[in-house]
Amino acid sequence: MCGKESLMRVRPVTIPLDTRALHCTGVESAKNPVEKIHSGEVAMRVALLTGGGDCPGLNAVIYAAVKKGINHYGDEFIGFLAGWRGVLDNNWIPLTLDGTDGIQLKGGTILHSSRTNVKKVPGGIEKVQEVLRANGIDALIALGGDDTQSVTLALSEHGIPSVGVPKTIDNDINGTDTTFGFDTAVSIATEAIDRLHTTADAHNRVIVCEVMGRDAGWIAYASGVAGGAHVILVPEKEIDIDHVIALIKYNYDHGKHYAIVVVAEGCHLPEVGQVVNPDAKRDSFGHARLSGIGEALASLIEKKAGYETRSVNLGHTQRGGVPTAYDRTLGQRYGLHAIDMVHEKKWGRIAVLHGLDITDIPIKEAIATNRRLDKRFFDVIADLEAKV
Ligand code: F6P
Repeated sequence: MCGKESLMRVRPVTIPLDTRALHCTGVESAKNPVEKIHSGEVAMRVALLTGGGDCPGLNAVIYAAVKKGINHYGDEFIGFLAGWRGVLDNNWIPLTLDGTDGIQLKGGTILHSSRTNVKKVPGGIEKVQEVLRANGIDALIALGGDDTQSVTLALSEHGIPSVGVPKTIDNDINGTDTTFGFDTAVSIATEAIDRLHTTADAHNRVIVCEVMGRDAGWIAYASGVAGGAHVILVPEKEIDIDHVIALIKYNYDHGKHYAIVVVAEGCHLPEVGQVVNPDAKRDSFGHARLSGIGEALASLIEKKAGYETRSVNLGHTQRGGVPTAYDRTLGQRYGLHAIDMVHEKKWGRIAVLHGLDITDIPIKEAIATNRRLDKRFFDVIADLEAKV
């Protein structure tokens, strides 16, 4: 079953719970990890999963946790497929050194993902406990954003030994300076904005570029500044449409007959509020699907100011493709720390980046609020705008 090829082809393992021997988690071996490796004894049997929207860098975390876990601690790993759903369905694959070789370079997640909310499934927590016990799992590492981590927290409060790794392109997890995936999303959005400059210029148009980020404006802020957008709109600040039009008009009045507007999907349009996809159901964590403000804003600009305006919604391109070097490195550092947290029994805690250090904080703290832009970043946007 080992080997990269076999991982690609491996069928998910689903074993009836009552036929599996229970793993003896209560008995501590007197051997240290190195002795255990030499004697062929497994130090810990660890499960990983990836929940919520995918993001570039997830495979880097998996790669590093498995590598250090096996080589340094003598652990054994499995990966539940499709987030919490894989745990509820007892659906997993083995994670080996051969099977994870080279995955740190790749986007997406070899474990696949879903937005399954165990807390909403009747008897869900008990089912997770049962599946973990039946598979002899000593610890669980959950890679995910605030929704996934709210489940990790609930499980650890029920005595399930689990730790978290923060994941989201939105960069909005409290207590960590940067989440992996954010840098890749910003790079993709910046490249798109670079391209919009030339076509907008050629046609003397306004182009509105909608980026992701849910209720946080980190992607809009960073890609807007890096991409030289003339207007940057973030959910943390109300949109002043007269100011937007004044900034665009400045360009047309000063010889630059085009403008680029970057708008975060979670911005509130005056008199409308957040723009959601009316056909999409809320997810199991209660989130509406934000999408469409770019198009709505483009019509409003054209109607109010008369400039020919187009919009582009970058959508899931921001989450796809290979991670940047920064995200590959950050992801691997998070993975190494996560397996250390497991061996230090830091249950209910989540790895975080503080300055240059990877450390950890209680999951409760990380999901208490979302980290959003504040005045420091509003000032950057304002200082780089035209003076109107
Ligand atoms: O949280 C990450 C994110 O990409 C948000 O920026 C976006 O609003 C949402 O996920 C999109 O979710 P889905 O992939 O389910 O459409």
